[in-house]
Amino acid sequence: MLKTNVSQLPGMIGQEATLAGWVNARRNMGKIVFLDLRDRSGIVQVVCTEEMNDGLEQLKDVRPEYVVKIVGTIAARNVGKGKPISPLGTIEVHAISLTILNRAKTPPFEIVNEDRKAREELRMQYRYLDLRHRRMVRNLELRHNVCRYIREYLSNQGFLEIETPYLTKGTGEGAREYIVPSRNFPGSFYTLPQSPQQFKQILMVGGIERYYQFARCFRDEDTRDDRQPEFTQLDLEMSFVDVEDILRLVEDLFTGMVAVVTPEKHFTQSPFIRLTYDEAMKKYGTDKPDLRKDKNDPNELAFAFIVDFPLFEYSETDKKLVPVHHLFTSPKDEDVLLLDSDPTKAHSKQYDLVLNGFEVAGGSIRIHDIDIQKKIFSILKLSDSEAQRQFGHMLEAFSYGAPPHGGIAPGIDRIVAILANEPNIREVIAFPKTGDGRDLMVGAPGELPERQIDDAHIAIVKKSS
Ligand code: AMO
Repeated sequence: MLKTNVSQLPGMIGQEATLAGWVNARRNMGKIVFLDLRDRSGIVQVVCTEEMNDGLEQLKDVRPEYVVKIVGTIAARNVGKGKPISPLGTIEVHAISLTILNRAKTPPFEIVNEDRKAREELRMQYRYLDLRHRRMVRNLELRHNVCRYIREYLSNQGFLEIETPYLTKGTGEGAREYIVPSRNFPGSFYTLPQSPQQFKQILMVGGIERYYQFARCFRDEDTRDDRQPEFTQLDLEMSFVDVEDILRLVEDLFTGMVAVVTPEKHFTQSPFIRLTYDEAMKKYGTDKPDLRKDKNDPNELAFAFIVDFPLFEYSETDKKLVPVHHLFTSPKDEDVLLLDSDPTKAHSKQYDLVLNGFEVAGGSIRIHDIDIQKKIFSILKLSDSEAQRQFGHMLEAFSYGAPPHGGIAPGIDRIVAILANEPNIREVIAFPKTGDGRDLMVGAPGELPERQIDDAHIAIVKKSS
């Protein structure tokens, strides 16, 4: 059955069409029954009368969320009689036949378009019902359009989309990592990547020159409105570039994308505002200032690049210097000598992209010189053997002709959430996790059967509290 989408109907007055979808609401008006039929593209009113050729018996059973097929004639709707039920409210469908394709239990919450009242925990548990809501469909459509634009743009700029492994080794970027026990190597573990950082740099050593992917990243951190344990980055890397080349590319990409996917939006400033880290801290007390002129304007976008970050900061937890970005970030050329004299004063070739007060991308020009990389390891108090254990493969790769290179990773969830005016990135992810990292729909994390634990060569030891 090839169906006509509800959104196609306005141009089809007088024609017959086959529709299929879910019953959004049912209204009995004596001899006439109105069904609001919902599909992904919209909602339309279907008028069922005794004149129908087929399906009158089934009509008696139809309830909200039943899946139905309707054959009917498209007609102009007499809008004077009642309020339009949707933007497509100027037309309706006069049913010729109705078939129930599937029945539905009474849902735990009503799918009321625009006005979403159900508790979030319930919406997460029954995510498939929540996905039927127009707000979720709109957000996922926007996300799709964002990704489609980016793919097209980067392909036209000579980038190759390349996948990198999820079962890998610690990426050394600072966050706590998820680990996966190995069945074949008892006592050994894979680590899920915090980002494809090392692989994208190795792709540059491999001569790829321009790489991107939509990469799932995993970080075992507490969840916040703008943070999920797994999230998506547009990860990209380029060879033979400096800071300016990356910033220009990113600005051109996002300027063009906004014009196409959300043309109603406007920029506070174009070209994007640029601030050094020191300026931002001095003027705004944060490295992600919200520079909108009117914070109540839902269509204002204040993009800003923050540049010249310090290379290191002191970590109270670790009681030592840690990288502000990650340990592959290059110091500024004029600060290389400071690595020997006073590394805390060194600035780096790191840049962040900030949008309306959120950090939406981070990146840097990388170190491609092994001696500088080793110096960074020693400033971070990584012993030679530890550096070798964690990053030996990088040092080895870099000894075979690493080109100068750099990249950036915009967070797709954050960008789409801001474009959609959503307060929480959960609203732009099809199957997100709760604040405490659970998937309420499938029930993850969950306990494992004894056999699987045994296969993984692990034992569960309950800590006494
Ligand atoms: P960074 O750690 O700054 O850089 O991350 C880049 C961008 O990813 C997004 N992001 C997140 N989004 C949702 N949930 C999270 N938990 C989360 N953590 C980060 C943010 C952030 O700006 N490998 C480097 C990039 C590089 O140097 O090229 C990296 O991952 O929008």
